[in-house]
Amino acid sequence: MTDAASHIPLPRPGMGASKARMDEILRVDHAGEYAAVLIYRAQKAVFEGRKAHGDMARDLGEMQDQEAVHLARFERLLNERRVRPTAMTPLWRIAASALGAGTALMGEKAAHACTEAVESVIEKHYADQIAEIGDRDPALAAELKQFRDEELAHHDHAIDHGSREAPAYRLLSGVIKAGCRVAIKVSEKV
Ligand SMILES: [Fe+2]
Ligand SMILES: [Fe+2]
Repeated sequence: MTDAASHIPLPRPGMGASKARMDEILRVDHAGEYAAVLIYRAQKAVFEGRKAHGDMARDLGEMQDQEAVHLARFERLLNERRVRPTAMTPLWRIAASALGAGTALMGEKAAHACTEAVESVIEKHYADQIAEIGDRDPALAAELKQFRDEELAHHDHAIDHGSREAPAYRLLSGVIKAGCRVAIKVSEKV
């Protein structure tokens, strides 16, 4: 016999709810990759042409190119699935460029600390999404898994290059991670 009072029905969102959630996922991922391209571009601009920072500029360029591939993929998905980008784009452009330039001006290790912080939040964010949409959209989940692996490579590269020796590492890392988490929440909805 069923005890009606203790029976809590599972949420059963209709197609509309499901589409709305998928829209949020694509919108926030697009925003994140857009910001990633701008952070690496701004960092690269600081190191480019500086003697002794050639390797750094080259590595940043390679990461920027990978982020550009991620961004292009989400741009296509937004178009195909008729999802609007976040209205926060102009603000994210300023914030991401400032974050990239600001950390690079603090030095290579601070730039790496920025990468480690951003990529740690992003890879976790992708992991959550992969778990969430694995059944609903396995093809997209597989793409997100590939992107996540690349974010993890960026993250590990940063640690290998001394991110944790950056000045005020804990503060810097904490502030950047908190900012990323807020940006994720906002970009899903706004
Ligand atoms: Fe990315
Ligand atoms: Fe990345």
